[in-house]
Amino acid sequence: MPLRVLVILFLVFMERSTSDLCVFRDHITALEGEPYYLKCCLSTDHHHHRNHTVRWSKRYGPNRTVPLSSSERIIFNDDAIEFWPMKMIDEGMYTCTVGRKENQWNITVTKRSEHGCFHPKYLMTKEVEVGKSLSINCTHDYYQTEAYQISLFKDCSPIPGNHKPYIRKNAVLNDAGNYTCIFFLYKNRRSFNVTKTFNVKIKDNTDIMPTLYGNNVNYVQAELGKEKTLNCTALLRDPTGIIYWNEEHDNDTNIYKEKLISSGSNGKLYVSSLLKIKIVKEENLNVWYNCTLASAGVLETIGFFLKKKEGAADVSRHIFIIVLVSSAAFIFLVIMCVIYRIDILLCYRDLIRRDETLTDGKEYDAFVSYLKDCQPDNGDEHKFALEILPEALEKHFGYKLCIFERDIIPGGAIVDDIHSLIKKSRRLIIVLSENYMCDKVRYELESGLHEALVERKIKIILIEFTPISDFTFLPQSLELLKSHRILKWKANKSLSYNSRFWKNLRYLMPAKIAK
Ligand SMILES: *[C@@H]1O[C@H](CO)[C@@H](O)[C@H](O)[C@H]1NC(C)=O
Ligand SMILES: *[C@@H]1O[C@H](CO)[C@@H](O)[C@H](O)[C@H]1NC(C)=O
Ligand SMILES: *[C@@H]1O[C@H](CO)[C@@H](O)[C@H](O)[C@H]1NC(C)=O
Ligand SMILES: *[C@@H]1O[C@H](CO)[C@@H](O)[C@H](O)[C@H]1NC(C)=O
Ligand SMILES: *[C@@H]1O[C@H](CO)[C@@H](O)[C@H](O)[C@H]1NC(C)=O
Ligand SMILES: *[C@@H]1O[C@H](CO)[C@@H](O)[C@H](O)[C@H]1NC(C)=O
Ligand SMILES: *[C@@H]1O[C@H](CO)[C@@H](O)[C@H](O)[C@H]1NC(C)=O
Ligand SMILES: *[C@@H]1O[C@H](CO)[C@@H](O)[C@H](O)[C@H]1NC(C)=O
Ligand SMILES: *[C@@H]1O[C@H](CO)[C@@H](O)[C@H](O)[C@H]1NC(C)=O
Repeated sequence: MPLRVLVILFLVFMERSTSDLCVFRDHITALEGEPYYLKCCLSTDHHHHRNHTVRWSKRYGPNRTVPLSSSERIIFNDDAIEFWPMKMIDEGMYTCTVGRKENQWNITVTKRSEHGCFHPKYLMTKEVEVGKSLSINCTHDYYQTEAYQISLFKDCSPIPGNHKPYIRKNAVLNDAGNYTCIFFLYKNRRSFNVTKTFNVKIKDNTDIMPTLYGNNVNYVQAELGKEKTLNCTALLRDPTGIIYWNEEHDNDTNIYKEKLISSGSNGKLYVSSLLKIKIVKEENLNVWYNCTLASAGVLETIGFFLKKKEGAADVSRHIFIIVLVSSAAFIFLVIMCVIYRIDILLCYRDLIRRDETLTDGKEYDAFVSYLKDCQPDNGDEHKFALEILPEALEKHFGYKLCIFERDIIPGGAIVDDIHSLIKKSRRLIIVLSENYMCDKVRYELESGLHEALVERKIKIILIEFTPISDFTFLPQSLELLKSHRILKWKANKSLSYNSRFWKNLRYLMPAKIAK
């Protein structure tokens, strides 16, 4: 049994090996300039009929057949006829005859490609999946043994790092290309070459499931008046898959669609369909834009819902914050102005160099009225009226005071003097204390009040020198004065010229440019 199988296998092998060489196709294309051969398939018989002759003929027209004879270019080699090389004139019908049987071929000759080492029409296609073995072996049934050199080129250039006439490797996408085997032959002192080209295609075998990118429901914010693009991208297995937007927006001239195709690594194919709204309007908002993928049995839809961008709210929030901050700043400023109004006014006075004292024809800036010696215990008031007050107002702030005890030479009518002095003064400074209303000052006060209330020629400044709980001792008419504000003297605290006391006092004093 095994022997019989072996014999059959051997016979099959022999049959194949010889018939491989012979050319069965009856329509053949040869390249001009390359060696070519035809091997008669009838020669398979020669195992059984050792005695046979193969006759070759070429037919010209329907009725004329011419037997072929060998020449330097056309050589008979056993059962084969060889062309060294093929020429355009060799086109036509060829017949080989053995006994009564014959083979016939219609040979077409094509010019070689001028650019490149292979003819783009005569390629053998080889498809290999990524990762699978890619094997190209430059072998030629007929010329293999005769070739003195065999080279393998890829896209007509030598393959870097590979000088052998074969490659065997695991295919990567980059391996795709046209591989040309060149068999160099030498005949009749001339060199020839025969080419054989494989168009190798690399197929990505990763099982791609067509799918759309993104969530099924996408809420998209769009700003009115701006452009908005919706991006629907699908991963596809092949370009036959389609993605499309719902038709509702087809007639909208404000909307146009754009298709982009890009291929990623591993033969993946990405198709993006963009829906562009040129100017987002109210009617574009709160509307569904659906994108559908149809590919390889997959039907998938994702939706985009346009929502108004809360841009306006942002702006109003900003405005609100600005208003809040600026009003806070304004209130702060107002408070500061209220607190420091005296300082500001004094500063303003200095700045514009206001001087009220120039034209009123008065001599003194203030007449100082204080408790005189009607009580033994008045040392402090004396000191204040005669030392502290003039020290500050006269020496430091440049006012001129009228202090009766100091400025008036004794003798003469005191009452008349006081009256005229008060008339010559711009302010009446009254240093108040519990004991103030004693006889001597009463006249000063009354005279001053008269000037202030009736003549409106003097303003009264009240200084509370010692804390006073009850003001009833003062004449009611004092209440009528607008400037009845009372400056409080706070001993040590008020001593500094920068203190509130002096500032207030200066403010109540007439504006005057200090010399
Ligand atoms: C082979 O055929 C030729 C004629 O075609 C004949 O002369 C010759 O004797 C034959 N030889 C054999 C061994 O049959
Ligand atoms: C070929 O032969 C046929 C008959 O055998 C004849 O009718 C025909 O005219 C011939 N054609 C040419 C081109 O000679
Ligand atoms: C041979 O093939 C060529 C090209 O296909 C064709 O034009 C021609 O008619 C064929 N000749 C015959 C005899 O079939
Ligand atoms: C190429 O093919 C020849 C003949 O079929 C064989 O002998 C040889 O080992 C092959 N080479 C490779 C690298 O496969
Ligand atoms: C191989 O050659 C053919 C014909 O010139 C061309 O169309 C094809 O793109 C080439 N293949 C590669 C992978 O370069
Ligand atoms: C093959 O031969 C042709 C002419 O027959 C020549 O143009 C071409 O350059 C040769 N190719 C190589 C690779 O030598
Ligand atoms: C669309 O989305 C895909 C996937 O998120 C991205 O790769 C592509 O660059 C996008 N296209 C445009 C034009 O934004
Ligand atoms: C778009 O306009 C065409 C012709 O004006 C009309 O036949 C079609 O129904 C319209 N499509 C939609 C979705 O309104
Ligand atoms: C005021 O200052 C003097 C010395 O400068 C000091 O002796 C006195 O105790 C102070 N009075 C008050 C109430 O602080």
